[in-house]
Parts: sequence; C-alpha cells; structure tokens
Amino acid sequence: MLIALLPGDGIGPEVIVEARRVLDAVCGDALAYEEAPVGAAGYRAEGHPLPPATLALAKRADAVLFGAVGDPSCDGLERHLRPEQAILGLRKELALFANLRPAKLFPELADASALRPEVAKAIDLMIVRETNGDVYFGEKGIRTTPAGRRQGYDIMSYDEDEVARIARVGFETAKARRGKLCSVDKANVLETSQLWRDVVIEIAADYPEIELSHMYVDNAAMQLVRDPGQFDVIVTGNLFGDILSDQASMCAGSIGMLPSATLDVNQKGLYEPIHGSAPDIAGQGKANPLATILSAAMMLRYSLGKDAAADRIEAAVAAALAAGHRTADLGGTTTTRDMADAVLAAL
Ligand code: NAI
Ligand code: MG
Repeated sequence: MLIALLPGDGIGPEVIVEARRVLDAVCGDALAYEEAPVGAAGYRAEGHPLPPATLALAKRADAVLFGAVGDPSCDGLERHLRPEQAILGLRKELALFANLRPAKLFPELADASALRPEVAKAIDLMIVRETNGDVYFGEKGIRTTPAGRRQGYDIMSYDEDEVARIARVGFETAKARRGKLCSVDKANVLETSQLWRDVVIEIAADYPEIELSHMYVDNAAMQLVRDPGQFDVIVTGNLFGDILSDQASMCAGSIGMLPSATLDVNQKGLYEPIHGSAPDIAGQGKANPLATILSAAMMLRYSLGKDAAADRIEAAVAAALAAGHRTADLGGTTTTRDMADAVLAAL
C-alpha cells in the first residue's frame, strides 16, 4: 500500500516525520511512502501550491497523510497561488466530500479543555462535514448594483444527491458508534437547509435503528459548549461544519491533539491534523506531534483496514500522556521528538 506524504510548511514537516516513525514501528514494510512538496513548499519548488506531480501522487496513492500548509511569506501572492489553495484543490480533485472530525477528550487532559473538566470529560462526538459543495463552491463575486454600489455574493446550494451522499456517511458513522445522529441546518430560514432536512429524513427510512434529531446551527453552537456529551454524530454542510468542527475540537483540548479524515466514496482519504502550519513555533521543536500521529491512526482504520494497528497507536498516545509527557500547548516542556519517543516507548 502506497502512502503519499505531503509535509507542507511550518511545523508540517516536523510532525509528519514523527508520524512516519510511529507508522514504521507499527506497520514496518507493509506500507510504502512517497513524499512530495505542497503549499508554500510546492510554490517554491514548482511554482504552484499543488504541483501537478504532487496531485498525481495523491491520486495514485492509497491514502494521503498531510501535514499543514501556510507561510506568511506568501501573503502577498494572488489567491490561487497561496498555500491554502492546496487543501481546497486536493479536496475537489480527489472528490473528498466527507470530513470526519472526532472530538474526544483524553481523560489525562481534562484540565486542558476550554470547558470545565466535568463538562469536557463527557465529549465523545464525531462531526461529519460535507466538503465538496455549499457556499464555498457556488457562484461568487463582487459586482456593482444598478445604484453603483459594490455588492458581494456567494450562492449557497446543495442538490439532493449531494445531501443523500453525506447523510449516508452520517448514518453509517452513527451505526458504528452509539446510534445517535443529529443533523444540523438552518431550515427555519434557508431553502437549501429545508431540502437538506427533507433528504436526511428520506434517507433515515433506511436506518430505523438510528435515533435521528435535527438542530438549527445557532442552537448547535450553544449546545456544544453547554452540554457536548449529548452528541454522538453530527452531520452538516460545509460552512456550518467548518465552524462547528473547530469549536467542537477546541472543547476537547489542545489544537495539537486533534486529527481528521476527509474521505471519498471509496473510503480513500486524506488525513491531517486540524491545526495549521503554526509559523510562530516552527523550527523550535515545540510542536505537538500527537494530532498527526492520531491522524495516521485514522488512516489505518478508515482507508487501510488496519484497525488493530490503529488501536495500538491510540493506546500508545494515551500511555504517553498518562506517563506525564506534555508539549508546550499542553502546558509542558516535552519536545516534538521526545513526545514521539514516548509514544514509541509505549508501543
Ligand atoms: P495554526 O493552527 O497554525 O496555529 C494556531 C495556534 O496554535 C498557534 O499559536 C500555534 O503555535 C498553535 N499550534 C498549532 N498547532 C500546534 C501544535 N501541533 N502544537 C503546538 N501548538 C500548535 O493556525 P493559524 O496561526 O491561524 O494559521 C497559521 C497558518 O496555517 C496560516 O497560513 C493558515 O492559513 C494555515 N492553516 C492551514 C491549515 C491546514 O493546512 N489544513 C489549517 C489552518 C490554518
Ligand atoms: Mg476551519
């Protein structure tokens, strides 16, 4: 099985190298790797944040392990040459429509959450966010009104097949977990959301064993902070999911802890920590590598059918935390390399 390693910028290469060491320890020669530049590194090497050879490798590989992109030195570039375009391009070109973001607090880190420990402890949820449609990909622009005023617009739309496809991922995810699915929309105001809700209810007929509920997105934002323990799986659109998944993940602790997967219809996926390139700490050995190591575990579970190997990595991360290792984002002084060494020792 071939893994495309796309380290990217800033702390991306620092955390990818540690995830690779953990994968080597668990999977040995069962996985092969090819590395390619992406983001600002892609722009410097090939003149584009997503060079054609990098995209071709990502398409050819069985899974993609992605670090992070973003570099302040690129701020002046035109939008299509900025590093962040690489991740949007990969999602679109590989038809990666289902972004899965688990938010679960390691009990050892109850004090690290922005929420009170007793509230944070109850978080164990998965956000299933659509990433190929919605207002991000609709017609957009800045035009001039008849009155000569500038007007910005972005069209929000979903067709029923797009909704059905992500709804099924939501139901299947709930089936594999605690059997509860909450669909988040704004059906009281938006027609796109009304169709979303209608289609989710139609698909629910195929999943009588799943307990389905609906929630408006503004209320969902509040409930995530008030009582996150009430959620098992949340399914929602691109825009609402973007916002809610950042919120949920921070409720569960440090940004340096949280992994993600983005899948196509065949479970091929791109795996990445939710954090960015962290230019403020790049090159200092301070980055927490656990989000990327946990993303590698998700890759083994979702795309490569290696559940036992994924379980071993997750248990080793818990053991490293239980042994007291803490990187700076968790209030400690453990370096990137030492944190990975602690995971390797636990393995
Ligand atoms: P960021 O996630 O890079 O950093 C936010 C804060 O969290 C910083 O203080 C950073 O030091 C800290 N942090 C992040 N990851 C950490 C880790 N593993 N260990 C310890 N501390 C960590 O977000 P920011 O600063 O808004 O963006 C920096 C760049 O990253 C920008 O160019 C942005 O566009 C890009 N970005 C890229 C993403 C991606 O590649 N998927 C996602 C988010 C942002
Ligand atoms: Mg976001």
